[in-house]
Amino acid sequence: MNPSVYSRYRTAFVEALAQNLGVPASELDSQIKPADPAHGDFSFPTFPLAKAQKKAPPAIAAALAQAIKVPGLEVVAAGPYVNAKFAPMPFTGEVIDTARAQGVRYGGGDVGTGKTVVMDYSSPNIAKPIAFHHIRSTVIGHGIANLHRALGYKVEGINYLGDWGKQFGLVAVGFQEYGDPARRNDMAHLVEVYVKANKRAEAEPAFDERARDFFRRMEAKEPEALALWKEFRETSLRDFERIYARLGVKFEHMEGESRYQDKMEPVIEELAQKVGVKESQGATIVDLPYAENEPPVMLKKNDGSTLYATRDLAAANDRWDRFHFEKSLYVVATDQALHFRQLFRVLEAMGREWTKRMVHVNFGRVHGMSTRKGTVVLLTDVLDEAKARALEKVQENIKAGRIQTNDPDGLAEQIGLGAIFFGDLKNRRTTDYTFDWDDVLAFEGHSGPYLQYAHARTCSILRKGGGAPASYDASLLTLPEEQALLRGIARLPVVVQEAAEQFEPSFVARWLLDLGAAFNSYFTAGNQDRGKRVLLEDNDALKAARLALTDATRASLAAGLTLLGMATPEYM
Ligand code: ARG
Repeated sequence: MNPSVYSRYRTAFVEALAQNLGVPASELDSQIKPADPAHGDFSFPTFPLAKAQKKAPPAIAAALAQAIKVPGLEVVAAGPYVNAKFAPMPFTGEVIDTARAQGVRYGGGDVGTGKTVVMDYSSPNIAKPIAFHHIRSTVIGHGIANLHRALGYKVEGINYLGDWGKQFGLVAVGFQEYGDPARRNDMAHLVEVYVKANKRAEAEPAFDERARDFFRRMEAKEPEALALWKEFRETSLRDFERIYARLGVKFEHMEGESRYQDKMEPVIEELAQKVGVKESQGATIVDLPYAENEPPVMLKKNDGSTLYATRDLAAANDRWDRFHFEKSLYVVATDQALHFRQLFRVLEAMGREWTKRMVHVNFGRVHGMSTRKGTVVLLTDVLDEAKARALEKVQENIKAGRIQTNDPDGLAEQIGLGAIFFGDLKNRRTTDYTFDWDDVLAFEGHSGPYLQYAHARTCSILRKGGGAPASYDASLLTLPEEQALLRGIARLPVVVQEAAEQFEPSFVARWLLDLGAAFNSYFTAGNQDRGKRVLLEDNDALKAARLALTDATRASLAAGLTLLGMATPEYM
């Protein structure tokens, strides 16, 4: 894929400066900053040159601006800065044509070609409620996976199910006490049982001991224990599959902790040789210098059963062996920061040089999430509620004549899911936030529905205008709002790259809000009649140019929404 319009001009500017100053372009690259929008697009500060040139920065800037010629850029000095601004032409036509030609793939690139990114995300525990941190992991992970795919990376998405460990023993013994054998294939029932069993185990050590014992029997491969585990696992998986299908999230691999049943012993042996393991209160721990109050890395409990960390060590090795990754990401709540720090530390101690390619892509907590049904938040309930609330709004808007659709139900599902995705992704992943139904479902404001609506509006303007024109004259698009909108469109490829580098889908969310606002002020400015500015009746040439810009906006919004995993309805 060709470099984006934006980065092509940026590179040309850097190269012209470098040539004039007689230094390698790579040296200047990091010095170029986005300019103050009033003055241009790129800015080069000349302060660092003052000493060597024995001249005042404004004089240096003036001389450089005089000397530098870059086709398509207007270069001017402003005080100590050399500013470059996109000349309206050919920039305008290039941006529009690129976005329209690439459509929903606009914003992508090829920096990842030939490289593999392993992503561990979603990763709920079987026979337990999918908690909100799993939703965040799913939504954020899906966004990061899409960003990497758009940049040409091969993504190996792994849903690392929590399908091994003591918590499963809890469900099993809980089922003996509270289970209805007729409902053994009913996920909601398993979750009820789990909640009861968990409470009881906290109050009653003997019950907890029974759960541990059940897991011990699983690890000892007792057929009866394994049969029950298998059955419950399948029930959970069926339920999960339904939810992922609804969310539109797909994984390359559905494989959980149980995959490592027989791969933990070899890791422990290797650890014993290379790093050292020791006994501590009957448990086996990695022999490392620990900070005061730091819990040690446990490999086996005093009853010989293995732990989460033991399995993650085996899994990390397995992922390297299979994928030789460029990066291996763990999209997991910040609460598990210590676990991942220790995991990476142990792998490093084992001499795995690829540990530096691993990243704990952490995220904060969500407060205030509850549904009308109750406080145990089941993902299905959240999605159902989002849809029900969206449907109320859709009906209202249909009555008021603001929405036209012949499938209110389908539209409500798309809006409800979009609201949940966007409500999460507009936040930087590490910040905690408070979930608010009215906020995420607002049709005006910083919400998913607002952006889906902006996209649908571009579609409706195009329909009313007789479709996107095959040819148009880009030089007619001279309004400041048009130039601002173009700059927003031009930035998407840059935003995608930064978002992928920092594992921050929120950058795309912010960009969408900016672009939505730019489009909104463009076609509503100066008149009350929405869309009139684009749909001029009396000037066909101008109308064609504005429809082309609207079409480029449509493609860009669709591309951004799709990256975040949101639907892009054309009628709304
Ligand atoms: N199942 C775990 C939980 O629910 C998350 C697993 C994250 N991935 C990992 N490789 N540890 O907390």
